This record gives sequence, structure tokens and C-alpha cells, in this order.
Amino acid sequence: VIILTLGMIVFMLNGLPSEYDKIYFDQFPASFRFGIATASYQVEGGASHRGKNIWDTFSHTPGNIEDGSTGDDACDSFRNYETDVKNVAALGLDFYRFSISWSRLIPTGVISEGISEAGLDYYHKLLNKLEEEKIEAMVTLYHWDLPQKLQDYGGWTNVSLAERFQEYADLCFKSFGPKVKRWITFNEPRETSLGGYEIGYMAPGYKLHGTGTYNTSYTILRAHAAAYRLYAERYRNLQFGEVGITLNCDWAQPVDNSVANRDAADRFLQWYIGIWAHPILLGDYPSVIKETVKTKTNAKGFRKSRLPEFSQDEVDYIKGTFDFLGLNSYTTRMVQFKQCQDEEDHYNCDQDLKAFADPTWPTSGSSWLRPVPWGIRKLLSQRWIKHQYPNYREIIVTENGVSDRPESVTLCDQPRVNFFQNYLNNVLMAIRIDEVNVVGYTAWSLMDNFEWAHGYTERFGLFWTSFDRPDKLRTMKSSGLFYKKIVEARGFPN
Ligand code: NOJ
Repeated sequence: VIILTLGMIVFMLNGLPSEYDKIYFDQFPASFRFGIATASYQVEGGASHRGKNIWDTFSHTPGNIEDGSTGDDACDSFRNYETDVKNVAALGLDFYRFSISWSRLIPTGVISEGISEAGLDYYHKLLNKLEEEKIEAMVTLYHWDLPQKLQDYGGWTNVSLAERFQEYADLCFKSFGPKVKRWITFNEPRETSLGGYEIGYMAPGYKLHGTGTYNTSYTILRAHAAAYRLYAERYRNLQFGEVGITLNCDWAQPVDNSVANRDAADRFLQWYIGIWAHPILLGDYPSVIKETVKTKTNAKGFRKSRLPEFSQDEVDYIKGTFDFLGLNSYTTRMVQFKQCQDEEDHYNCDQDLKAFADPTWPTSGSSWLRPVPWGIRKLLSQRWIKHQYPNYREIIVTENGVSDRPESVTLCDQPRVNFFQNYLNNVLMAIRIDEVNVVGYTAWSLMDNFEWAHGYTERFGLFWTSFDRPDKLRTMKSSGLFYKKIVEARGFPN
């Protein structure tokens, strides 16, 4: 009884059913690259040294952030960037993924209104330090912190923002290009569109139910393509870098094998990732989205077509604008067909489904994040990406990780160790068994940081950040040590 009880306790502390503990022993291919990520607003601080952006406005508005905090100081990477690079090096990693703050380079967002030399200098110093440590740079151009002035003109609902983005991208390519191996135009555009404009839990907090996602996706896709094409035409021959986009996606597991539920799971994925990936990889929006959003009418006969149509020229302009596909994946949802009930809830209504977590799955520090390691394998493999987009070229997992709450876990973050072990192992299986061309993996995140609307209440770091200290001391957690070992061994050698 004692042994059994102890066994149960260990199992519960680990928080994962034993089926996940079956490890597939093998190594990643020799060319596989391991990295770790952060994003400007979440770590930099130094807010008074740059132009105002939409997250400054949003976080300073009472009621938007769970703990009332802001990213004004965050991890103060503005001053601590050398420590950050040292910590990436301490994990033995091949690359560091960080993002550039648009308003640090161009305070108003409009290039003709001025460039900040101090801003350019900051990223040069960071990139030089990475070069010294022989760590490759993977740079995200847009990780959600739009200059406020551009928001005042409508943000991503304004199609002309695609041109402003291209000018900003041009400045980045021109200034930093020789030091950057991979560029990511947009991080998780779905969150910008859905969270920022449709539902409003992210900056700028618009609630344009029924139009927010579709209208902004049109501008963002154009902006992405404009940056990609600029790089391909003007910079690639000199700088030899690659340009891609990072999309996020939960795996959708149908509740059973019925056609209705399998179709519902398929729609979930089309609305989540297909709305972005289809135009970029195959051309135009997925037909199920076009047909549904165009033709669906509600009880009052209101035609709900809110999807901007691409002209043939636009389809051709956007199609093929990727050298690699970045993928952020954290969790899985169970999906079931459900006829739409609430006609006002346009975005969900368009999909006619219900998505939920299996209550037996372990929990984490974030309500939306349940560790389901096999989900990432299904998402990558024949079940979805490889099958939907056979021309995907290379996939890089640009984020994967798990949170906890500071009051429950500290440096001994065993659930996070388990998470990385099991997710990495499933990525390995996708490569070795399912033959998916995944060429890199990025852990989120280098250190605990400002977790958007949740402020500092959720921690994702492999390093603990002491936010209460002026120097924002970082301390490696067990998960950092574990990741370092995996990277050293290049996987799971038998
Ligand atoms: C994805 C986002 O890119 C990142 O900024 C965020 O912190 C993580 N998910 C965790 O929620």
C-alpha cells in the first residue's frame, strides 16, 4: 500500500499519464537546430527609450491585464541583453529567436517621420553579441507591438498598413540582414486578428465580431507577402537568409470517427491555420472558408459574407511567399460538430463546432494549455500539415512550452521537464517515423516574462526571472538543465 501510494504521488506530481513516458530512442538529424525564443514587448522593458505601441496603451488601461501590470520594465532585456545571450549559450543552443520592436526603430511607425539611432544600436549590440557566441539569429519582425500611431489609423483593418510594414521590413533587412539567418514576418497572426480585433482580449482590444478576423487577415497576408517579395528581390543574393511566417495551431482531435465530427475537426484546423497557410502555400483562402463565409445566412436572412476576396493578382502575389513554415503549437482540443446557436458569435458560428479539453488531460498555469504531447505529432504528420501542404519545404517549431503559476512551482519545474521530454520526443517521431521535414525546434521561453493579458501570473521560462529585483536576475530551472542535456545529446540516444 505504501509503495502504491508513493507511486501515485510521484505520478500526480509528474502530472502526466504513463503512456506519455514511453520514449522513442533516437537522435535528431545532424543538421537539426535547437533554439529558444522571446519577444520584444514581453522581455525588453526600456519603454521610455522607444515610441509608444499598442501594448503600452492596452496594458496601461485598467482592467485589461490580470495583475494590473505592464511591460514597461519586464525582464529589462534592454539592459540585460548580454546576460540573455550568455544564458542562451549556457544551454548550448544553435539559435536565438527574438523580435524587433517596430516603435524602437521607428518611433511613430512611419519611416518618413524618423528613425531612432539608439534603437538601431540596441539590436546591433544584441546581434553582435550573438555572433560572438556563435549563436544564429532568428528574428521576428512583428510580435504584436504595433506603433500606436499606426493603430490610430485603424491598425490592421487599414490595408495601407501593408506598405508601412514593408518599409519597416526594408529597414530591418538593410540594417541587420547580414547578421540574420532567418526572418519571421509575423508571429501568430491568428492571435492578432482574433484576439486583437474580433474578441478583444489582446491589444488593441477591438471587438469587431464577424469582421475582425477576416478583414485583418487580408492586410496581414498582403504585408507578409510584401516583405517576403522585397527580401527575395533585393536582399537574398547578398544576405543568403530565409523568410517565413510563424502560424500557431492546436491539434484538433475529433471526439469520434463520425463524418460530422471529423469534418468539424477539419474546419477547426482550416479556420485556425488554413486561413493563413492556404493563401501562402497553395493560393487563396481554403474553399470551405470561402463557401461558408460567403453563403451562410442566419435566421434573419442576414448574409454573413465578411471575407474579403483576393483578386487573381493578389492570389499570385501571396502564393509561394515562404522559405520555411514556422509553427507554434502548445496544446490539443477535442472537437465535436455543433450547429451554431448564438447568431451573434459570428466567428464560431461560421465553423459550427464545439472545441474543448478532455478533462483527463493534465493542466498547466494557463487555462488554455493542457499538455497533450501526441497532438503535436498528429499536427505535423500525415494527419494534417504534411498532407494538406505537401509543398511545405521545411517546418521549424518556432515555439513550444508550458506555463506554471509562481505560487505553485519554482526552480524545480518537473512538469515542464516532462513537457519538453514528451513533446520533443513526439517531434522526433514525426521526423523519423512519419518523415516530416522538421528542421528546428524552439523552446518558449528563455525566461519568465510578461505573458500578455495574464501579466506576470504565468511563467513559461527555462530561467526564473526575479521580477522584484532591480537587476531582474535570471536563474536556470530544472527544465533548462534538461533541455541543455537533450541538446548536447542531440535527442534521445539509446
Ligand atoms: C505564443 C506567443 O507567441 C507568445 O508571445 C506567448 O507568450 C506564448 N504563446 C505563450 O502564451
